[in-house]
Amino acid sequence: MERETFSSKLGVLAAAAGSAIGLGNIWKFPYITGKNGGAAFILVYIICIALIGVVMMMSEFALGRKTKSNPIGAFKKLRPEGKWHYTGILAVLTSFIILSFYLMIAGWIFSYFAKSLTGELISIAPESLGSYFETITSNTFSVLFWNVIIIAITSFIVISGVQKGIEKYSKILMPILLITLIILIFRSLTLKGAKEGLDFLLKPDFSKLTTKAVLEALGHAFYTLSLGMGIIITYGSYVKKDENLKSLSFQIIIADTVIAIMAGMVIFPAVFAYGFEPEAGPSLIFITLPAVFQSMPLGGIFETLFFLLVGVAAITSTISLLEVLVSALGEEFNLDRKKTILIVSIALFLLSIPSSLSFGSWSGIKVLGLSFFDLFDFIASYIFLPIVGILTCIFISHVWGTKNAFNEIVGEEVYSSRNYKTYNFLIKYIAPIAILIILLYSTGIISF
Ligand code: PHE
Ligand code: NA
Repeated sequence: MERETFSSKLGVLAAAAGSAIGLGNIWKFPYITGKNGGAAFILVYIICIALIGVVMMMSEFALGRKTKSNPIGAFKKLRPEGKWHYTGILAVLTSFIILSFYLMIAGWIFSYFAKSLTGELISIAPESLGSYFETITSNTFSVLFWNVIIIAITSFIVISGVQKGIEKYSKILMPILLITLIILIFRSLTLKGAKEGLDFLLKPDFSKLTTKAVLEALGHAFYTLSLGMGIIITYGSYVKKDENLKSLSFQIIIADTVIAIMAGMVIFPAVFAYGFEPEAGPSLIFITLPAVFQSMPLGGIFETLFFLLVGVAAITSTISLLEVLVSALGEEFNLDRKKTILIVSIALFLLSIPSSLSFGSWSGIKVLGLSFFDLFDFIASYIFLPIVGILTCIFISHVWGTKNAFNEIVGEEVYSSRNYKTYNFLIKYIAPIAILIILLYSTGIISF
């Protein structure tokens, strides 16, 4: 059977940017930027992206396109003997674990979206929003119900394949995301007192740029671009031969960064305008912002739009994670797409249970002092992901060869060019060392 491809550059751009743009952009980036010195932090972040994000993304695309394979097959094809394909297996495993809890968070978002559509959310007393959030996330039936919904929506899109599924829906969803974001920015920036929030986000303060902040930027650069989980390898395997992978990577990375900054311009002006404290993560989205919307004229409408935005961002990410699992399993075990999706969906639902219940009936269960959710997140995001990243760098520079990779990326063989030399240096030395430092730091082996 002929392997599917994305029909156009716009198609792969929408799909890959859809994967990259997710909760990391909306609930993590704005906050770590505000906390770590605003524009000063953004500068460091851009340097991190330029030094490792760009070369890693180009390399993953190249691995996929060269081999036309899922992450496991990609390593196997380029190096049939030995154990290199375990890198691919680890990448797929990382996607599996991350998806199992990402879909739970997507479920929370969808339930909030539903509650904002009916108007229930806007009528909750601001001081009760915290306990409301706890009620929602600890209700076993409701959380598992939403998990099923997210798995169903994601499967529905992925089952139709690359062009008729992933590409088609990404091309619909990404414009929705952009338009919603622009409406919300306009609302936020025109609020009285918006300036304080903009200052929090953007005002450069180099004194807040600690070593810790730099490492946070580095770690986030990796996660936000969906690297190290086989996603870009998988999408790369559907990219046509004549696309330039360098310009494709640049466009995705610029989109991801711009959207992250825009998300901050929605959130902080509104938060500060109504006198709330900036927060990160779940409490920002599920507690602080609903309270902000209640103070705002027509807040119910903006609240609905906001949860639509986050929901869309989450779904285009779950699609990409599911596609990794489906292509890897389907190709390695020779199963058809439908059967594979059925198997993967059931497995995902089962794996989502421990994380999902760790906010409710299983909250007392701790492994290594962590709840199931924290444990899964730690293993996948802080251990597996950087290991895959380092192994990928080593594979490119010592097994496949940077010349071959570069040739696949830009389609030319001028190895004396500055571009090649830069690529070679970054992927051989800078990227693996930087990722190793993140790994040692986030596992507590080294500290600053
Ligand atoms: N890149 C996504 C974000 O910034 C996160 C993500 C991780 C998406 C893994 C898909 C898979 O939120
Ligand atoms: Na991102």
